[in-house]
Amino acid sequence: MSAALPHGVTGVHALASGHHDGPWDAVIVDPTVKDRLLATAVLVLRHGRCLAGSAVAPHGLIVLAGPPGTGKSTLAQGLAQAAARALAPHGATTLVEVDPHAFPSEMLGESRRAVSRLFREDLPELAARRPHTLVLIDEVEALAVRRQAASFDTNPVDVHRATDAVLSGLDALRAQRPGTLLVVTTNFAEAVGDAFLSRADLVVRTTLPDESVIPLIVADSLRELAAQWPELRDLAEDTAVHQQVGRMLVGMDGRKIRKTVHGALALRLETAREPALLRAEGLVAAAREAAAKLSEKVPRS
Ligand SMILES: Nc1ncnc2c1ncn2[C@@H]1O[C@H](COP(=O)(O)OP(=O)(O)OP(=O)(O)O)[C@@H](O)[C@H]1O
Ligand SMILES: [Mg+2]
Repeated sequence: MSAALPHGVTGVHALASGHHDGPWDAVIVDPTVKDRLLATAVLVLRHGRCLAGSAVAPHGLIVLAGPPGTGKSTLAQGLAQAAARALAPHGATTLVEVDPHAFPSEMLGESRRAVSRLFREDLPELAARRPHTLVLIDEVEALAVRRQAASFDTNPVDVHRATDAVLSGLDALRAQRPGTLLVVTTNFAEAVGDAFLSRADLVVRTTLPDESVIPLIVADSLRELAAQWPELRDLAEDTAVHQQVGRMLVGMDGRKIRKTVHGALALRLETAREPALLRAEGLVAAAREAAAKLSEKVPRS
């Protein structure tokens, strides 16, 4: 892409593209969640324009909310590619990535104007380039908070200010380019206030994986390793081990589960040097260590 991206825009991609395969399949969730996401995206992107102005017009907003490491960013990225593939017969899709951290300082003055320019000028211009446009704002709560305050201590009031800014921007964008889809993610359940709830076409709340899903994430992480070291294929197929390890990892998010599996290689110098030597015992030892760390952090009541 050209170096001169508009302020706050960190990426503009033409989809569908082989480079973007992967994320959609990497997140293991109830298939109905993915079905709803994909159907909502396709409806907005394909028919949003002709429905504009009617009582049933979609708003063009999907919200993914949930705790860290539960697959929000990965799902959002994957959705862009999955929707682009579904819509490919009708033309290409532009994925625009917006970095909300580019607009700090409480939405005052310059910052507020920059957000307004983004939604009223830059995004409509980008959306004119291809038949379908999906805009992704990952960690939307960062939009309205002071840089140093963007953390877990973020005040819900600030979060609401961010979502309000997005909603008014979205209205402006829709007026010019109906059929543009905005996908936002947030760690803050509070961010999904009434305004978002009533306008979002779909709110997906991601959760920690449960006991049935964890072994599947363990298996998928092992398959990733086996793609590099085929000797690990047996371990990647060993569902009994996945279940055993999975029981030890209950309470962890998807990111920690994947890290635990990959981290098993670093438990001993031998497997770090030669990952093909990883065995079930090494995996179980890594899970035991990760589970012990987790229980240190979560005091039992
Ligand atoms: N349900 C899941 N199934 C498989 N992998 C998962 C799942 N949830 C998370 N992961 C993996 O965990 C990693 C982190 O996921 P991701 O960055 O999408 O989470 P997030 O919810 O956006 O986290 P954060 O709030 O910290 O940004 C990715 O490698 C992703 O594939
Ligand atoms: Mg994320």
